[in-house]
Amino acid sequence: MLNPAAEVKTGSHHYPVQMGWGCLDEVGRLVRESGLEGRVVIVSDQAVAPLYEGAVLGALEAAGFPVLHYEVPPGEASKTLESAGCIYDFLVEHRIERSDLVVALGGGVVGDLAGFVSATFLRGLPWAVLPTSLVAMTDASIGGKTGINHPRAKNLIGAFHQPVLVLADVSTLSTLPTRELTSGWAEVIKHGFTLDTELLDMLETHVEALRSLDPEMTVRAVALSAAAKAAVVSQDERESGLRRVLNYGHTIGHALEASTDYGRFLHGEAVAIGMMGAVRLSQRLGLVSEALVARQESLLTVFGLPTRCSGVDRAMVDKAMELDKKSQEGEVRWVLLTATGKTTVRPVPFAEVEAVLEELVQP
Ligand SMILES: NC(=O)c1ccc[n+]([C@@H]2O[C@H](COP(=O)([O-])OP(=O)(O)OC[C@H]3O[C@@H](n4cnc5c(N)ncnc54)[C@H](O)[C@@H]3O)[C@@H](O)[C@H]2O)c1
Repeated sequence: MLNPAAEVKTGSHHYPVQMGWGCLDEVGRLVRESGLEGRVVIVSDQAVAPLYEGAVLGALEAAGFPVLHYEVPPGEASKTLESAGCIYDFLVEHRIERSDLVVALGGGVVGDLAGFVSATFLRGLPWAVLPTSLVAMTDASIGGKTGINHPRAKNLIGAFHQPVLVLADVSTLSTLPTRELTSGWAEVIKHGFTLDTELLDMLETHVEALRSLDPEMTVRAVALSAAAKAAVVSQDERESGLRRVLNYGHTIGHALEASTDYGRFLHGEAVAIGMMGAVRLSQRLGLVSEALVARQESLLTVFGLPTRCSGVDRAMVDKAMELDKKSQEGEVRWVLLTATGKTTVRPVPFAEVEAVLEELVQP
């Protein structure tokens, strides 16, 4: 069964986020309905392709599309200019034209990379996203932010380029490595606390069903989370204001990732700890109660996420936050909770941040 989970409506683009359990074979029909007629290039990674590329390729061919495919090695190391260059070579070799379509099949890495190639090749090819990780379904595939890493910093090079279609087959999560799945729940929980109290209630009520990927519940939760992100990016495509709310937990989260050379935490794990930092700051500033802090800690914990850490060099965390501050014109703008589903963005006194880091990051 396929449901339109959300619509992204920016000033210039309008596209559906379609979602279901076992719906990859709908891709041919949906691409056809979007009015595209050229060839299709599937870009995937070598972990996802053996599992799902056959079904996608078959569905596209059955709908009459000639299909080519290209795979990159799995993981963040593929989000480089070099990988993009290899895909450009492939597109040139096969004389891909502006009427052809790129289909990104995989997690956020494949989405960001294939989206970036689509944004830049021939000054823009149409592209569709078939996200297969929880992060990609609820976050990366929605909003048209594409990009690659620079050796000095993540996501430094990129473009906004909205896809024509997002099609998420939630059943693909059943093959996602457990740690990746758990990490992905952090962003869903973030959407629950910052944007959507219905999603938050659902997460709190159906922990077991969601963690064991009950089809109906999981599709509903992933759809609500995707819809929450779609609503934000529809109002603020280019991150000029509202979209900042999505950074809840990311100030400390990024500092933890950077201070450990991106080798210790998965993004969602660092964001979970960062969310605890943000809610504790909110409580210290009198914006929320101690009960809300406990509520967030409890939900993150039952979803298997960390809420503090040890063995991380505090000096390195401080240094990473200092760099972040410089990149934000000297002042970190913290996303804080004022209630469930409500946030505010403001600077926070340094002493409060230090006190919270003292609690979260132990030697
Ligand atoms: N563009 C955006 O708005 C946005 C938002 C959030 C994150 N991101 C980016 O997304 C990336 C992280 O995404 P991710 O967590 O999906 O990482 P990922 O793409 O590296 O996927 C994680 C791992 O899971 C594997 N995998 C994915 N789906 C699978 C499946 N169904 N079955 C088996 N294995 C599967 C992948 O091969 C990979 O090894 C980062 O680069 C981040 O910067 C972008």
